[in-house]
This record gives sequence, structure tokens and C-alpha cells, in this order.
Amino acid sequence: MTTTPYAARTTAVAARATDLSKVYGQGETQVVALDHVSVDFRQGEFTAIMGPSGSGKSTLMHCVAGLDSFSGGSVRIGETELSTLKDKQLTKLRRDKIGFIFQAFNLLPTLTALENITLPMDIAGRKPDKQWLEQVISMVGLAGRLSHRPTELSGGQQQRVAVARALASQPDIIFGDEPTGNLDSRSGAEVLGFLRNSVRELGQTVVMVTHDPVAAAYADRVIFLADGRIVDEMLSPTADGVLDRMKDFDAKGRTS
Ligand SMILES: Nc1ncnc2c1ncn2[C@@H]1O[C@H](COP(=O)(O)OP(=O)(O)OP(=O)(O)O)[C@@H](O)[C@H]1O
Ligand SMILES: [Mg+2]
Repeated sequence: MTTTPYAARTTAVAARATDLSKVYGQGETQVVALDHVSVDFRQGEFTAIMGPSGSGKSTLMHCVAGLDSFSGGSVRIGETELSTLKDKQLTKLRRDKIGFIFQAFNLLPTLTALENITLPMDIAGRKPDKQWLEQVISMVGLAGRLSHRPTELSGGQQQRVAVARALASQPDIIFGDEPTGNLDSRSGAEVLGFLRNSVRELGQTVVMVTHDPVAAAYADRVIFLADGRIVDEMLSPTADGVLDRMKDFDAKGRTS
């Protein structure tokens, strides 16, 4: 097994990629989207994934979240190796253990806010913990909007519904692919604040892809991808620190 400075710390691991590779296409059109990536996402930690467009951020997130197959290496969610699961078991694991927040909120237009929030649990045949649900709804400030349909909500409110939906089932880990990408800075800051609080106060584990150094600064650590590899990691990031690091990569890219 390959170990890197990015793997192997002490706390329990919510998700782990080991030597993960993902190759799209064949021959001349082949693209190595992930090139032997090893990374741990520890419980109760908020990680941001950054890197240039095409560096493999979404691919990494999708492979670790069991949304996409991979070409080599392994992924585990908690104690479960994804490669050992059949399709149905993988679907169940995604539904029971993982929360998702996407850039395009992905709400069902015919359902109310509350119905959207509880939908994954309804599908799983699980009853939401009422007290928890109320806590989540009040945290994201949606108490007065529960009977509204997505078209009757602003973008920021829709994304708050998506955040509440991800938190409602108390998943082991939440993945967000640019969850604030479609929001203005104020709504974005609110959503990031909820994610930050869910980690600090509720012990959630969050992994978020972002292009925005300000968003990344809400995380406990940032990992930087370039050309399908992890090239750096920053703990307790600040927006300025992240921005400087990104400038370094740009400068290196131009001179090499
Ligand atoms: N379905 C696909 N078929 C072929 N190549 C793909 C496919 N999906 C992604 N790629 C390639 O894999 C590489 C990584 O893509 P990925 O979407 O992970 O990048 P990203 O870092 O999320 O970029 P962005 O910031 O633009 O969202 C890119 O070179 C991309 O062109
Ligand atoms: Mg992407």
C-alpha cells in the first residue's frame, strides 16, 4: 500500500482513497483524470478540494462518493470497501451513509421544501428523527418556507433546502461539488456557515469542491489537485493563504 503525507493521521476515517486512478477513454483520446491519489477524509473534519479546471476535483469526489467507477486503487466509506459492493448495495450505501449537495440544487420541482428535505429518507423507508429535523431546519432558517415549492424559493433558499436534505439523515459524510457556485456571495456565505456549523457543532464530516479561496477558508484543510494528483495540502486555511498558494501553482504552470 502506498502511504503519503495526506493519508494516515490518527482520528477515525470517514472515507479513504488509496492509490486511486481514473482513466477516461483509450489510446490517443485517453485522459488520466486521477493519477494514484491517496487521501483520507477524517470524521468531523471539513475538507475543501481545490485546483484548476480539469484537475480532477469532481472525478475524485464522484469516485469517493460511489457515484462513479474507478480504474485502479480502492475507496472505502467507513469500513466498507466500495469495490466489494454490488450495484444495489452501492446504491443503498450512498442513500444511507452519504449526503450530496450539488451546484445545481437538484431539488424535485413538484415537491415542497419539506418533502424535498425528507425525500432520501422516505425512499429509504426511514423515519426522520423529528427533533433533529427541526434543529436542521431551524439552523438553515427554512421554518417559514417548508410548504413552498422550489420555484417559489430564491436560489439561496433552494440551496439551503439541499443542505438540510443532506444533513437530515445524519449521513457519515457529506459531499458538495461547488455547492456555492450558483449563489451570490451573501447566500454562499450562509450556506458555508451552515456547513461549518454542522461540522463544528454536530460533528458532521464534509468534503467540498470549490474554486473560491473564501469558501475554502471555511474548511479545516484544503487539498490542492493538479493534473489528477494531490500536489499540496493546507491546514487551517485563510483566504489570502489559499490565494497565494494558487498563484504559486499558476506561476509554476507558466514557467514549466
Ligand atoms: N466523462 C468523461 N469522459 C472523458 N473525460 C472526462 C470525463 N469527465 C471528465 N473528464 C476529464 O477528466 C479530467 C478531470 O475532470 P473533472 O471534471 O474531474 O475536473 P474538475 O477539476 O472538476 O474541473 P472543473 O473545475 O472544471 O469542474 C478533465 O481533463 C476532463 O476533461
Ligand atoms: Mg468539477
